Amino acid sequence: MIFDTHAHYDDDAFQEDREELLGGLRAAGIGTVVNVGASIASTKTSIALAESHPFIYAAAGVHPSESAELDEERMKWLEEMCARPKVVAVGEIGLDYHWDEPDREVQKHWFRQQIGLARKVKLPIIVHSRDAAKDTMDIIKEEKAAETGGVIHCFSYGIEVAREYLNMGFYLGIGGVLTFKNARKLKEVVAYMPLERLLLETDCPYMAPTPHRGERNSSLYLPYVVRAVSEIKGVPEEDVIAVTEANARQMYRLSHIG
Ligand code: NI
Repeated sequence: MIFDTHAHYDDDAFQEDREELLGGLRAAGIGTVVNVGASIASTKTSIALAESHPFIYAAAGVHPSESAELDEERMKWLEEMCARPKVVAVGEIGLDYHWDEPDREVQKHWFRQQIGLARKVKLPIIVHSRDAAKDTMDIIKEEKAAETGGVIHCFSYGIEVAREYLNMGFYLGIGGVLTFKNARKLKEVVAYMPLERLLLETDCPYMAPTPHRGERNSSLYLPYVVRAVSEIKGVPEEDVIAVTEANARQMYRLSHIG
């Protein structure tokens, strides 16, 4: 079944129909979801969602745009959360130079600290990197993030950068952008990379695929991304689903669950 490796179902966009939507995922072929924290508050709500739904897991972490809220005490709290049985990753963490706030030095500092946390608790990282290719790569290398592994979520760089992450053992997160007409660079990356390193993700409520571009996204739209991957790779859709599910289980270390 489809594994949505990156969702934000705690977002207000799902306030009206969250339980109804989640309750219908399995019948639509969505087997597992990882709900990703982006702040202290959304780490809490992600864990609550995971602890009340068997098929949902959580990631604990603070997004670069929110990183100014971090301090030593909150890092300690994040570490405690990483010990919860349903927490499977540290994320999303990284650098965002598109919004470019807070100050880049603040973003870099907490990116390093959260990689350190992931290495300590031995969980993979979910990396958010926007318009920050070089600094993200430098920090990933300097902090030896490859030792704990993870995914470069919503991958938006070219083949050269992809190759470097793949060589270090990272997975690349691919979502709705792949279906956009102007996604030539991402299509090249997907054609180039092995299917065994590709993770399906929504980043919902954002990044809805064509023909729903601009609407609220959900895991229900992942079949459009599956179809796009299938066409680019020349692999049947059911194989795309099976291989990417196995990839996600491997990366999140859920291989023992059937
Ligand atoms: Ni996200």
